[in-house]
Amino acid sequence: MKPIRGKSKSIFVCQQCGKESAKWLGRCPNCQAWNSFVETTVTLSRASPHWLPTRENRPQELSQVEKGSFPRFHLGLAEMDRVLGGGLVPGSLVLIGGEPGIGKSTLLLQASAMVAENNKPVAYVSGEESINQVKLRAERLGMGGKGIFILSETNLPTVLGWLEELSPSLVVIDSIQTMYLENISGTPGSITQIRECTLELMHWAKQNNVSAFIAGHVTKEGAIAGPGALEHIVDVVLYLEGEPFSSYRVLRSVKNRFGSTNEVGIFEMSHNGLVEVSNPSQVFLSKYSDAAIGSVVVPTLEGSRPLLVEIQALTTPASFGPPRRIANGIDFNRLLLISAVLTKRAGIRLSNQDIIVNVTGGLKVNEPAVDLGIASAIASSFHDSKPLPKLVVLGEVGLNGELRAVSQIERRVTEAIRLGFKSCLMPKLPSQLSLDYADIQLIQASSVAEALRLGLSRRGHSASPLKGED
Ligand code: TYD
Ligand code: MG
Repeated sequence: MKPIRGKSKSIFVCQQCGKESAKWLGRCPNCQAWNSFVETTVTLSRASPHWLPTRENRPQELSQVEKGSFPRFHLGLAEMDRVLGGGLVPGSLVLIGGEPGIGKSTLLLQASAMVAENNKPVAYVSGEESINQVKLRAERLGMGGKGIFILSETNLPTVLGWLEELSPSLVVIDSIQTMYLENISGTPGSITQIRECTLELMHWAKQNNVSAFIAGHVTKEGAIAGPGALEHIVDVVLYLEGEPFSSYRVLRSVKNRFGSTNEVGIFEMSHNGLVEVSNPSQVFLSKYSDAAIGSVVVPTLEGSRPLLVEIQALTTPASFGPPRRIANGIDFNRLLLISAVLTKRAGIRLSNQDIIVNVTGGLKVNEPAVDLGIASAIASSFHDSKPLPKLVVLGEVGLNGELRAVSQIERRVTEAIRLGFKSCLMPKLPSQLSLDYADIQLIQASSVAEALRLGLSRRGHSASPLKGED
C-alpha cells in the first residue's frame, strides 16, 4: 500500500492490543476485545525519504564489536535486584504491571528510598497522587525522603524538562496511564498516548543513560492496558501479583533483555510497606500441621527457586445438582483432569462429590509437578486418611494415571530436606539418575493408584478402604 504523505488520516486503533484498522470494528480480530476501537488521527510527514548512509551510525561486523559491559546498580532491595537479574542496568526502562492497589507505588517508593540513601538522587513523578499523598505514604513507610524529588505532573514534556534539570540517577513514572503528550490525539491512558509516552521515555532514558521504572495498571484480564504495544518497547517487564485476601506479593519477571526471566521475588505487605520474604517456604508452611487429612505439601519451583506450599482439598457429597469443583490457586482445568483420572484410574468415585482445592497463603501454582500433590490431597480427604507424616509429594499425572518425571527434582528434594521433611512421594526416577539421600526417603511409584497406596496411611478412619486398579 502506498503511504499518503503530508495528510492527516483517520484510523481506528484497538485500545487493548494496538491493532490498527481502516474502519471501525466491533470486535478486535487480534485480541478479541469487544468495542475497543477508537478513532485516531495520524499525520504522515511530507518529507521525502532519503536513503543515504550516515557517517555516525555505520554497520559493524559482529566479530569486531567491542563487548560492552553493563555495570548494574543495586537497588538495595535484594528480592527486586534478583528479579531484575542482579540489579538495574543503566539506561533501561522497566515496566511494573499489576492490578490497582496491589502495591506498585509502595514498592517503587521503597526502591526510590533505598537508591536515594546511597546518595543517588531519584525523581519520582506521580500522575495519580498529589505531593501530600506521596508524603503520607512515605511517612507510613518510615522514610525521610532525602534525595527523592517528587513531581506531581502528567504532561510528559514538562516531566522531561524537569528531569533534564534534576539529572537524577533513577526516574519513577507512576503511572504511564496518566502521562500525556499534547500533540498526540487521544486522552491519557489511550493506547496511542501510552505508546508514544513510553517511546518518548525510552528515548530519554537511553540518551541520558538513566534507568526508569514505569508503573502500569493491568486490566481485569490481566494485561497492561495496551499490553502488546508496551511490552515490546520496554527492556524489562515485571508483574506484581497477589490474591486480594493474602498479604503475600510475588514480583515476577516476564521479559528481561538483560537477564533471565526465571526469577521471582516474594514480599509481604505489612502495615509499613512491603517486607522481603527471604525464606518463603518457612512462611508458607508456618500454619501447616503435619499429616492432616486433605493437606499435602508440594515442592514447587517459582522461577529457579524451590518453594514448599501446602495444598488442601475437601470433598463432600454433593447435596443437589451437579457436583461443584472450586480451584483456588491452581488451574481449574487441571483440577477437572485430575478428578477424572482419580475416578477412572484410581477407583475413587468423585462424580457425586463437590471438590474444593486451595493453595494456602494465596499463592498460584501452575506447574504440572503439583498434580500428584493435588491428587493426594483429594484422595486423602475422600478416604479420610492422613498422608504419611513429614511427607512431600511431587509428580505430573498423565491421563492414563501414569506418573511423569518433573524437572529439577534435586532442587526440590533438597528444599524439602532443609525444612525437615522425611519422605518424598515421587515418580520412578529414570535409570540414569540415581539419587540417594541420607535424610529423606524417596518413595517411588509408577501410577497414581500406587502412589496413593504408598503415600496415604491406611490406619486413620477409613470410610472406604483404599483400593486401586493395579
Ligand atoms: P499502592 O502501592 O497504592 O498500590 P498501586 O500503586 O499498585 O495501586 O498500594 C495500596 C495498598 O497497599 C493499599 O490497599 C494499602 C496497602 N498498604 C499497606 O498495607 N501498607 C503500607 O505500608 C502501604 C503504603 C500500603
Ligand atoms: Mg499507585
